[in-house]
Amino acid sequence: MSALNKLNEEIALCQSCELAKYRTKVVPGEGVEDADLLFVGEAPGYHEDQQGRPFVGAAGSYLDKLLASINLNRKQVYIANVIKCRPAKNRDPLPVEIQNCRHWLEKQIKLINPKMIVTLGRYSMAMFFPSKIISKIHGTSQKKDGIVYFAMYHPAAALHQQRLRTVIEADMLKIPLLLAQMEDIAKAEQQPQQLSMFGD
Ligand code: URA
Repeated sequence: MSALNKLNEEIALCQSCELAKYRTKVVPGEGVEDADLLFVGEAPGYHEDQQGRPFVGAAGSYLDKLLASINLNRKQVYIANVIKCRPAKNRDPLPVEIQNCRHWLEKQIKLINPKMIVTLGRYSMAMFFPSKIISKIHGTSQKKDGIVYFAMYHPAAALHQQRLRTVIEADMLKIPLLLAQMEDIAKAEQQPQQLSMFGD
């Protein structure tokens, strides 16, 4: 069993906060283990809690469409959440729940080692950039500790607001270009230093 699968099994047994009492299933995440792209949502909703899989409800269908717009599907990326159990009635996660759960996501990131983390919604953005405001930084990227972070609105928010739909769809289209730029930079860094022919 892979280290990531082992970790996800551990996550599925987590009892470290109150959410464990009310969940049907833990939702550790799923996708390719060495994905270049890691999408991080907020928390499981009703359908995710029932199935133990991330983004399987209406927001998930929309995320699938967004992925298809850049010729990707969920089997080519990894999808996880900030918190792994559903908060009752889909309320916002509490700071203590986020704090308790964050070590799981940090461990997943270490094992997946993605080139880019796409944050979906403000809770996910705040994990990495606590002082930023999503309406200001969505659609922009920032490099931190060797990983490029790209902030997007949450697909569920965009589903219900036409204005955000236009924005999230445009932001998604920026991802392939960013990945290509990252590859160009990595290639340039691998080029052997040009030796001077004249010894100077
Ligand atoms: N919303 C999320 O943030 N995550 C899910 O897995 C589903 C809906």
